[in-house]
Amino acid sequence: MAIYIERTLAKFMNLSEKLATEFNHFLKTITYENNGELDPSLSEEERQKSISLMRVNASGEVSAQALYRGQAFFTKTPDVRKHLIKAGDEEFDHLVWCSKRLDELGGKKSVLDPFYYAGSFTLGSVAALIGDGTSLGFVEETEKQVVEHLKRHLQEMSPKDEKSREILEKMLEEEEIHGQEAKDHGSEELPLPVKGMMTATSKIMTTLSRYF
Ligand SMILES: [Fe+2]
Ligand SMILES: [Fe+2]
Repeated sequence: MAIYIERTLAKFMNLSEKLATEFNHFLKTITYENNGELDPSLSEEERQKSISLMRVNASGEVSAQALYRGQAFFTKTPDVRKHLIKAGDEEFDHLVWCSKRLDELGGKKSVLDPFYYAGSFTLGSVAALIGDGTSLGFVEETEKQVVEHLKRHLQEMSPKDEKSREILEKMLEEEEIHGQEAKDHGSEELPLPVKGMMTATSKIMTTLSRYF
């Protein structure tokens, strides 16, 4: 009996520690700010355009890492968890670059970021509970859509905003690698309606983040 209570207690402590880590990660992500200098090299119109695009990208990175953290939290495969945590950390780097650039442009992050984090973490958890193949299929499809989206942003953004473009190009490179890594770890193709739903959800999120 004493051993049983001890084991249950140890399990509970382990879970509360893991939950506290995830909550800290949530706080770190939604409160990250950088106080940079305003970039004077762009016209007002170019600056506003870059602000709205970089705000969308910062929200995308908040969602991406929340998705990865949710998936890593529930996967039962250590190797897959390691891959998801590493990719999630790289998404946090992307968030740092986007936030820093947003500050230089004089813009603010989206007020909806905490909701994106919570929603994406839940989605990642559900995907991981279904299984690694589906979960990694989710990563592969997400990264594919992010790559397409970044290419569109590069077309839309002023060629004069070299600093933002450099960030988007570097992100694009790493998102392609994340997609490939998911494939290498055994991702499964998602059903077409799920892919369609993902496209629709990201369309809603990117539209909202442009303005809020
Ligand atoms: Fe990213
Ligand atoms: Fe990525």
